[in-house]
Amino acid sequence: MAHIVADPCVKCKYTDCVAVCPVDCFHEGVNLLVIDPEVCIDCGLCPPECPTSAIFAEEDVPANQQHFTALNAELAREWKPITRTKLALPDAEEWRLVEAKLGELKR
Ligand code: SF4
Ligand code: F3S
Repeated sequence: MAHIVADPCVKCKYTDCVAVCPVDCFHEGVNLLVIDPEVCIDCGLCPPECPTSAIFAEEDVPANQQHFTALNAELAREWKPITRTKLALPDAEEWRLVEAKLGELKR
């Protein structure tokens, strides 16, 4: 089991989550972070850090976002690790409460 970054992160990418991860398992795309499920130790530290509540334990991913579980595994293999917090995307506040943003994902 692992934690999963889901839809609310898309187009926001606040990166507060990165600062607390003890095993550096976040990977960065243009407008989403994902978690490498092979490395995540399910410590539970990152979900409360996310301003968009985008991170779930795998068993708690909402039904309408379950495609993000496979997406985290797939994209973690393609994207580079990110280990330091950086500025959120410029329009993060505007997109924070928008739902179903998968169509906006840049791969
Ligand atoms: Fe890192 Fe823990 Fe979050 Fe997994 S649950 S991504 S190990 S902070
Ligand atoms: Fe994304 Fe939340 Fe981290 S918006 S980058 S999962 S702090």
